[in-house]
Amino acid sequence: MHIRPRRNRKSPAVRSLVQETSLSASDFIYPLFLHDKEVDEQIESMPGCVRWSLTGLIKEAGEAYALGVPAVVLFPAIDESLKTSDAAECHNDAGLVPRAVRALKDAYPGLCVITDVALDPYNSDGHDGLVEKDANGELEIVNDETVAVLCEQALCHARAGVDIVSPSDMMDGRVAAIRDALDASGFEKVSILSYSAKYASAYYGPFRGALESAPKAGDKKTYQMDPANIREAIREIELDEAEGADMIMVKPAGPYLDVIAKVSDHTTLPVAAYQVSGEYLMIKAASKDGWVNEKAIALESLMGIKRAGASMILTYYAKLAAEWLKDA
Ligand code: PBG
Repeated sequence: MHIRPRRNRKSPAVRSLVQETSLSASDFIYPLFLHDKEVDEQIESMPGCVRWSLTGLIKEAGEAYALGVPAVVLFPAIDESLKTSDAAECHNDAGLVPRAVRALKDAYPGLCVITDVALDPYNSDGHDGLVEKDANGELEIVNDETVAVLCEQALCHARAGVDIVSPSDMMDGRVAAIRDALDASGFEKVSILSYSAKYASAYYGPFRGALESAPKAGDKKTYQMDPANIREAIREIELDEAEGADMIMVKPAGPYLDVIAKVSDHTTLPVAAYQVSGEYLMIKAASKDGWVNEKAIALESLMGIKRAGASMILTYYAKLAAEWLKDA
């Protein structure tokens, strides 16, 4: 036998030389939930995740940053009393997100702070866009009116000093509109990480519980993508690229590795992937009673997402995985 592939696996040293993909803390973006309260609150629907007070948020982000995690993305739980049908709280300069951005950038100027741009935490209807009733009384998520509000939201985050805004709403034309709005106000250095291929997924369930942001009526299928489609993902990526996105995203990650692979072959932009709440919780639940080894399964899932072509991963495991990788 001339060819014995096992020779390349014979020792840790040889295995490390031939390793094709590597995973490190610098690949991670840490999603953090926050609320306007003095106390940190465990999230019942997402064990291991916390709705942070501003003080708690600064501490948690600092610990992750110290472990080598370069970026955080903020998801606010907004008080019911501030939710309206025009989602106006989303561009309040004194609101929760701008305050958190300022505090994080003050505390750690080098930390990359990312904000989510979408209306669902602020909208009394729970949709990512503004809701109107059409002639037949059916709910409609109106596109162009929503985009105008998203631009206000992005500008508000830019004024607070955000590094990257990340539109997760899936409205048409929002990347170009946000880019124009940012540039017109002198924020040409603020980047756009676009949720380009965001699927209408059941894996978001626990997240909506964490923010109490589930749609009050209807579903998100008129704006988020059909899980059956992959060519459409390419179409969305091409549009976002042409509209000026700096980075694009596929979401969820684990069940959509084929999309990540195809998209990353197709674009020269950096590709992000979001290991979403449902993916995270399936590992949590299965490891709780010892059915699987949490650390091994989580790191293997993250490696799979990297191997598929993602250069960054949004994951609730960011801080824990950074700790695990340090010990490895
Ligand atoms: C909404 C948003 C969602 C997530 C991130 N931003 C939920 C949704 O689209 O309904 C989900 C993240 C997760 O499940 O971890 N703009």
